[in-house]
Amino acid sequence: MSHATHIQVELESGERREIPVTRDNHSLADVLAAHGLPLNTRCGQRGLCRGCEVDLREGSLQTDSGAVNAPVTVQACRARLTSQAHIHIPARSRIEHLPQVGETFEIAIPYAHQPLFPFVPGGRDTAFAVDVGTTTVVVLLVDLVTGEVLSRAGAFNEQIRFGDNVITRIEAARKPENLAAMQRAIVMETIQPLLLRAGERAGRSVNRIAGGAIAGNTTMLHLLVGEDPTPLGIAPFTPRFIAGKKVLASDIKLVAEGLAPETPMQLLPGFSAYVGADITAGVFASGMVFDPTPSLLVDIGTNGEIVLQSGGKLTACATAAGPAFEGCGLRCGTRAREGAVSDLRLTLNPFQLETKTIGNIPLARANGLCGSAYVDFLATARSSGLLGVAGRFTAAAWENVPAQNRFTDEGERALRLTETNGAGALRVSEVDVALLLQAKAAIGAGIEILLETAGIRATDLGRVYLAGGFGMHLNVAHAIAIGLLPGFREEQVRVVGNMALAGALLALVDRTTLDEMENLRTQVEVIELNLAADFEDRYIDHLMLP
Ligand code: FES
Repeated sequence: MSHATHIQVELESGERREIPVTRDNHSLADVLAAHGLPLNTRCGQRGLCRGCEVDLREGSLQTDSGAVNAPVTVQACRARLTSQAHIHIPARSRIEHLPQVGETFEIAIPYAHQPLFPFVPGGRDTAFAVDVGTTTVVVLLVDLVTGEVLSRAGAFNEQIRFGDNVITRIEAARKPENLAAMQRAIVMETIQPLLLRAGERAGRSVNRIAGGAIAGNTTMLHLLVGEDPTPLGIAPFTPRFIAGKKVLASDIKLVAEGLAPETPMQLLPGFSAYVGADITAGVFASGMVFDPTPSLLVDIGTNGEIVLQSGGKLTACATAAGPAFEGCGLRCGTRAREGAVSDLRLTLNPFQLETKTIGNIPLARANGLCGSAYVDFLATARSSGLLGVAGRFTAAAWENVPAQNRFTDEGERALRLTETNGAGALRVSEVDVALLLQAKAAIGAGIEILLETAGIRATDLGRVYLAGGFGMHLNVAHAIAIGLLPGFREEQVRVVGNMALAGALLALVDRTTLDEMENLRTQVEVIELNLAADFEDRYIDHLMLP
């Protein structure tokens, strides 16, 4: 076969280059990369994504399915040069942003710079990404010119007063006045103040906002747009909408001085009633969908969602884990924020406590314990013998705890971490432990069932992506030890953080990623754990501490 000696390459800007081709049998993507034009080969040149698409404007190319002639769009990783060709590289296929580790999340794939919204440098040149969690909400402000994150702000979701989980909120929405009040709580009492705060931090007023991208679970997105979520609470659990959806600020009643009512906002696509857009975002931004070996994503938030990728097929399930690992419902629980205890080690004989707080705030001034500290507590209290398999303080060990660290509150035993007397003391109670065990049991049992359904063992997985805000501070060995990640090895686990936010950011900066997220819905099968014959038994087994 004769090979090309040179090709013409045209960029989106109109710039043209002539590239000499001296190497045989390399993919067009490799040839372009060798000449300083790397493409978004995010699936590892396996023909699974759209990141390497180029337009063949003249000539022909050899592809996996035979010779193709211009004009045609081809995946450059599946094409080889055989004759002279004129190639156009669209902006969406140029790497402009490398995989990156953000403050609280990790984006594992390269992406282009094709913002979702038109922007005017110095004018409307800013956009926001939001993760609407059931418990917590985080806003990022993003510069559309550079794609850089300018600032972030987070808070509890003000809808918490209507219930701490999606089921109680769906129930509350049966009253029309609650539906409107819940929309107001998320839009005007949570997102609007966060936008203003993020704007202040970045030195940008909201009148520079060109649009937003929003990820969240299916219930949260229904409530955000004022859509009745009650069908999500009754079999067959049919969402009112699940595809990506564009709304305007005025549609969701978002009002802020300087923010145009017609400001567009893109809701990311979800998979199902209980595997929502936050998970689609994670599956894509983690890159798991392109992994050559089976991989698992476990997102621990208010619910625990689990997605298995094997041979490019996705199987997903959701567990009603409750918000314990987000610090909700626990005596001294808090989300991961400055001043929260994030690490904890406990030993007996002699009794010792070691703690770390986010921001290195002294323990006496700590404002609570976040999920990772509770995982540490369960692991070290169990390994030291303070906790028994059922999660109760063992009688003999309890007697060895110094009197000032023992605390009894309405008959409930608790280990006190700080000196303060009375209700202000930081402490972990047996009731806290029971709630944590319920959450970890739901997740552990869900993981086991998903793997078994696919005939895959935990040790067969190439990678386990652990998503969710609390994961960033998590001691993975402890999560494995308590059975939250049952049967895995530490080196399999990769903590990727808040992937809902990562996906919203991706969609904002590279609009083509939105199409790819939308396409994922055709690859996923969602299984209902409540229909799995042995879920209940497994859940009960997992209530124990190994
Ligand atoms: S890199 Fe070519 S299809 Fe993904």
